[in-house]
Parts: sequence; structure tokens; C-alpha cells
Amino acid sequence: MKIGIHDIAAATGSLVLDLAEIATNTGTDLAKFHRGIGQFEMSINTVDEDIVTMAARAAKPILDRHGSDNIRTILFATESGVDQSKSAGVFLHGLLGLPGNCRVVELKEACYSATAALQFAVAMVARKPEEKVLVIASDIARYELDSSGEPTQGGGAVAMLVSADPALFEIEPATGLWTSDVMDFWRPNDRSTAVVDGHYSMQVYLDSVGKAWSDFQQAGGNSFDEIDYFCYHQPFTRMAVKAHRRLTEICEVEDVDASVATLEPTMIYNRRLGNSYTASVFFALLSLLDNSENLAGKRVGLFSYGSGAVAEFFTGIIPEGYEKHLRVAHHAEMLDQRTNIDYADYRARHAAYDELTGSYETERQTNGDYRFAGVVDHKRQYRNAE
Ligand code: CAA
Repeated sequence: MKIGIHDIAAATGSLVLDLAEIATNTGTDLAKFHRGIGQFEMSINTVDEDIVTMAARAAKPILDRHGSDNIRTILFATESGVDQSKSAGVFLHGLLGLPGNCRVVELKEACYSATAALQFAVAMVARKPEEKVLVIASDIARYELDSSGEPTQGGGAVAMLVSADPALFEIEPATGLWTSDVMDFWRPNDRSTAVVDGHYSMQVYLDSVGKAWSDFQQAGGNSFDEIDYFCYHQPFTRMAVKAHRRLTEICEVEDVDASVATLEPTMIYNRRLGNSYTASVFFALLSLLDNSENLAGKRVGLFSYGSGAVAEFFTGIIPEGYEKHLRVAHHAEMLDQRTNIDYADYRARHAAYDELTGSYETERQTNGDYRFAGVVDHKRQYRNAE
């Protein structure tokens, strides 16, 4: 039985900061951002947006198309949790008015957990093929102002409906795994921004590519030549290029530049979004689906990496007729309709984030269908935006 992604849709914040704003105001050469890290813009959330409202915005088109009848499980992957106890997925379930006969949980392991969610969903559908699982990856990447990670902030959500006979991506059984207990990037409970050892994190990421690939080969996975496209976790898009170069070295690929060129359609969205943590590798897949042609029958490899660190390499096949199920215009609109903000506005919003404590109401700012209205008696308030 074929199982995989039957539908996929994405959302991001309502605002955007052009990295030229940071470059001009900090005296940084813009080429460092464009060529050095491969980033152009970063999505910013309004005060009334968070991982739940972005998740709802991503999931809505999927529910409009397929309904919710057979969705008995929602797996919400994030490292930007809004509560230590209650799953962000339960807030989402309420906001979308989904039926009660459903199990809902949140999963965490840095940027990796959505891949675990996807694999768990596949296993659940294998057991009960008539059921569907809604997998959500939603995150907001925040680093300290003036830190090296600052230009790699961003955010977004990807929603995926996992089912039997999927229309978009048939996930294959072989998978390569790697876990190693390291401190390359993490966010302690008393901080709203990540702590990162930037260059070390890149080294651990690259080592994990080799380790996960080696396990994938031992697990009976396809050879390099049998994989047509590669999608990598993209904390910044140059990281995908570095990762692919490492893999081509391991696999002794002759024409490395030609192979690296095939990554291009996987980086179009992430360049404009910034890091979206758990959602990033699925934005890479979505970018490939939306921005390439003639993908039917092609095999795609996905490398998922979460600091701390857990990595997984797996593959899937794009079925015939997949194009009819895409939302290319919707995703272009999502990016183009963001409102540009300037450097001063960006810094004020970043600093104001930590001042929101106790009970408060948020101003209506989002251009999306759902909003986070504030906190009353320690309870987060979510509403339809109209
Ligand atoms: N023109 C062109 N290129 C330039 C340039 C210029 N004027 N100035 C610098 N560059 C190049 C550098 O040569 C370098 O390229 P190479 O790596 O190919 O040598 C690149 O731009 C970056 O320059 P630096 O290394 O000097 O940049 P930095 O130290 O200020 O910051 C970073 C880089 C450490 C990755 C930082 O962005 C960071 O801390 N990011 C957050 C952590 C991160 O994303 N880690 C990735 C792996 S961990 C992960 O994937 C999980 C996750 O999501 C966080």
C-alpha cells in the first residue's frame, strides 16, 4: 500500500523584513546575506499571530478541500511551543472547530520533529488505511538582536494530510537515522530566543548528513544516482548547498556543480521566509513541487535535521497527476502579500515580544483568517479574524 502526503499547504507571517534593511543599518555587506548565507528576506509575525494562527491558516485550504471526517489524529510539531503543558494542536483543533473524536499531541525535537510526526502518521495509516492524519509543522525562529543568527530568523507553517494512495508524495520505507546528544543550538525554558554555537551547529549538521546517509544505505535505501532531487533542512539556504556538497563528496559524484544546481527549485521559498525550523524541509519540498515541472515519477530525498541533535534521511516518489493538487498561486500570494517593515519597526517588534506578560489584548494586525487575541486569566485567546 502506498502511503504519504495527500495534500500540503503553507502559511507564514503577515510582515516581511528585507535583509537589506539589516545590512544598511548595521554596516554589513549585503553580499554576506545574499551570497554568504543565501537569504534575502525574513517573515515576521504580527502581535496577533503565532504558531497556532499560522498552523490554522496553513491547514484551512486542506480542510476546505477534503473535509475533516476521517482525520482522527493531529500531530503538531514545533519548537516554539505556546504552553508547557497544553498542545498547540489542541488550540488549533478548537480554532478550526474540528470534531471531538480525534487525538491531538505536540512533538518536539528542534527542527526535526515534523519528520518524526510524518513517519508516525505513515505508520498509523498503515494500521488503519481508512483514517487520515493531519501533520502540522509550525515555528517562529527568533535569535537575539545583533547576534550572528539574527539574519537567519523567519517563520512559517506547513500542513500535510497523510493518507493511503497519496496524490503528492509516496513515502518509501527505507529511512536513515542519527541521534547524538550535543549542545549546538537550544532554547532554555527561561528564554524566548535560541542559544546557538553557530559554526559548531553547522559542523554537527554536516556530520549528521554523513551519518544519516550511511544508515540509509545500510537500511536498503536507494543509491545517490537513483534520487532525482534532494530537499534539505534550510536554516539558511547556503546550508543546503553545503550539505549537498558534503553528500556528493561521500558518494564520489563526478559533476558536483550540476548536482548542486538541481537544488535551486527547493530554495525559492526558504530564501524569502528565513528559517521556519520544523517546517523548513517541507517548505523545501513544497518549493520544489510548486516551482518545477514534470516531476511525476521522480524520487525526492529529504534530509531533516534538528539540533541537539536528531537527523533522518528518507525518500518518496511523486505520483502521476500531482500537479492538479497544488496551490501555486496561493503560495505566491502568501509571500507577495506580506507587508514590508523597516529596521526600526522590526527592532521595536522584536523587543516588545518579551514585554507581553500577564493579561493583555493584542491589536488586530494580521492579514490572515485567524488571530491570537491575547491572554485572559492565563488563557490564550484565539479567534477568527473577521
Ligand atoms: N560577501 C560574500 N560572502 C560573505 C561575505 C561577503 N561580504 N562576508 C561573509 N561571507 C560569507 C562567509 O565566507 C561565509 O561563507 P562560508 O560559510 O561559505 O565560508 C558566510 O558568508 C557566513 O559568514 P560567517 O560565517 O562569517 O557568518 P556569521 O559567523 O556571522 O554567521 C552563522 C553564520 C554562524 C551560520 C549564523 O548565521 C548563525 O549563528 N545562524 C544560526 C545557527 C544556524 O543556522 N546553524 C545551522 C546549522 S544548525 C540547524 O540547522 C538547526 C537550525 O535550524 C538552527
